[in-house]
Amino acid sequence: MRCFPSPTASDTIIWRTVNRVWNMAGKVAPNRGSTARFPVLKTRRLVLRQVTVKDAPWYFEHFNTKEIVEGQDHGGPRNLSDARAELKLYFVDVFRLKRGIRWGMTVKGCDDLIGSAGFYKWIQPERYQAEMGYDLNPAFWGKGIMTEALSAIIQYGFDQMGLHRIEVLISHHNKRSQTLIRRLGFKREGVLRDHYFVEGRFSDDVIFSLLKEEWKAR
Ligand SMILES: CC(C)(COP(=O)(O)OP(=O)(O)OC[C@H]1O[C@@H](n2cnc3c(N)ncnc32)[C@H](O)[C@@H]1OP(=O)(O)O)[C@@H](O)C(=O)NCCC(=O)NCCS
Repeated sequence: MRCFPSPTASDTIIWRTVNRVWNMAGKVAPNRGSTARFPVLKTRRLVLRQVTVKDAPWYFEHFNTKEIVEGQDHGGPRNLSDARAELKLYFVDVFRLKRGIRWGMTVKGCDDLIGSAGFYKWIQPERYQAEMGYDLNPAFWGKGIMTEALSAIIQYGFDQMGLHRIEVLISHHNKRSQTLIRRLGFKREGVLRDHYFVEGRFSDDVIFSLLKEEWKAR
C-alpha cells in the first residue's frame, strides 16, 4: 500500500505541536499551507483535511474501487481529467460556494487519503439541514474508522454549521452503511421507492436522519 511510510521526525514534531495547540482550542485547526479557512478536524486516529485538485489521482483510483462503486451505486470517473472535474465540483466548489464541506480522511502521521466524508445539499437559506456522504478504502473497513470520522463531522455540523437535522440516503442493499449509521444514532424514516436510476434500472433508497437534540442526548 502506498500510504503509511513513517512520518519524518520534523513532520511528527510539527504536527504534535499543532495538534496540542488546536486540541486545546476545541479540535478545529486551520488547513496547513492554505489561505482558505477550511476546518481541519482531528480525532484519536485521524486527520480530516481539505482535498485539492492535487488529489485527483487518489480520487480516480478511490472512486473506481469495486467496493466503493457497489456501495454508492455509482461508477467512478473514466479518466484523470474527469476525476479532476468531479473532484472540483464535489469537494472544492461545494466548500467555496458554502453548499457543504467534504473532508479527506488521513491517518495521523501520513497525508495520503484513505476516504472522504462530509456534508452537501446544505439547504439555503436557513441552512439547518444537510445530507451526509462517506466512503472508505476497503483496506480500512472493520476498524471503526468511519464511525470515528463521522462522530467528529456530525459534532462539527451541529456545533459549527448550525445544523438541526442531518440526512443520509443509503441504497437498500448497502447493509454495512445502514449498520454504521444506526450505530451513530440515526433513525430510519422510510424507503424512497425507485429513487435512484442505476445501470438501466430503478433502485430503492432508505432514508435515515439524526436531529441535534438526539445527538446531544447520547
Ligand atoms: C460504509 C463504510 C464506510 C462502512 O465501513 P466500516 O468499516 O464498516 O465502518 P466503520 O469504520 O464504522 O467500522 C465498523 C466495523 O468496525 C468494527 N469496530 C472496531 N472498532 C470499532 C469502534 N471503536 N467503533 C465502531 N466500530 C468498531 C465494528 O465492529 C464493525 O466491524 P464489522 O464490520 O466486522 O461488523 C464502508 O463500507 C464503505 O466505504 N463502503 C463503500 C462506500 C459506501 O457504501 N458509502 C456509503 C454510501 S451511503
